Amino acid sequence: MKKVKLFFFTGAGVSAESGLQTFRNSPDGLWNNYKIEEVCTPEAWKKNPALVLEFYNHRRQQCKEAKPNKAHELIAELENNFDVTVVTQNVDNLHERAGSSRVIHLHGELMKSRSSSHAALIYSCHDDLKMGELCEKGSQLRPHIVWFGEMLDDENLYQAVSEASSCNVCVIIGSSLQVSPANQIPSFIPQQSQLVIIDPEELEAQFNANRSVYHIRKGASAGMQQLYESLMKTIN
Ligand code: APR
Repeated sequence: MKKVKLFFFTGAGVSAESGLQTFRNSPDGLWNNYKIEEVCTPEAWKKNPALVLEFYNHRRQQCKEAKPNKAHELIAELENNFDVTVVTQNVDNLHERAGSSRVIHLHGELMKSRSSSHAALIYSCHDDLKMGELCEKGSQLRPHIVWFGEMLDDENLYQAVSEASSCNVCVIIGSSLQVSPANQIPSFIPQQSQLVIIDPEELEAQFNANRSVYHIRKGASAGMQQLYESLMKTIN
């Protein structure tokens, strides 16, 4: 019998309970005490690559010290009874470490680096990335992250839209849906599919009026526990 298709669309909020900071809650707009424009744009990379590498080395270290939380674990566990796809804006690897087997990273991955001249040359990166570390073509390695002003990977975007368009249930966890084009993906969910939001805050995002949205106003772990129990009742 065909398994029900679950589509999880996650943002920084799903990793908040693992101790990783979300982006839009710091009033001074700082990310780990760095100004976004100084560390997360192609211009920043041109101006001061060493500062950019330092910022991502710091975030990679934090990611290594963080552990998947209950929400990551329950999303992975649902694979036992459902066809689960995770599309995440997060660059941490907590979904994978919790056991999710199909994760599409729209904004890149902290645990990878890539050539700054040949984007297809991608490498595993678990330690600090330093100036002078070069790709096989001799150019400086950079974080494998989509910076503000850069394009998302076409294949990832295509896959994400295709999964959203064919899901039975879409669950948005921990995203303010402020950043495009990622925030357009939930709009591809079929009209007849159920849309669930797990977030302690009200979302400004507008969903078309004649669509039912089930908002679990809880944190990721408590919200996923509630959703997990409801979903498991549908198969027992
Ligand atoms: N559980 C669930 N949701 C939470 C929790 C929690 N414990 N804590 C915060 N949230 C929610 C917030 O209410 C907010 O809606 O998570 C969301 C976080 O929103 P953002 O900080 O804007 O993160 P995100 O939507 O992932 O940002 C998207 O923007 O800055 C870029 O590339 C960066 O991928 C990021 C993108």
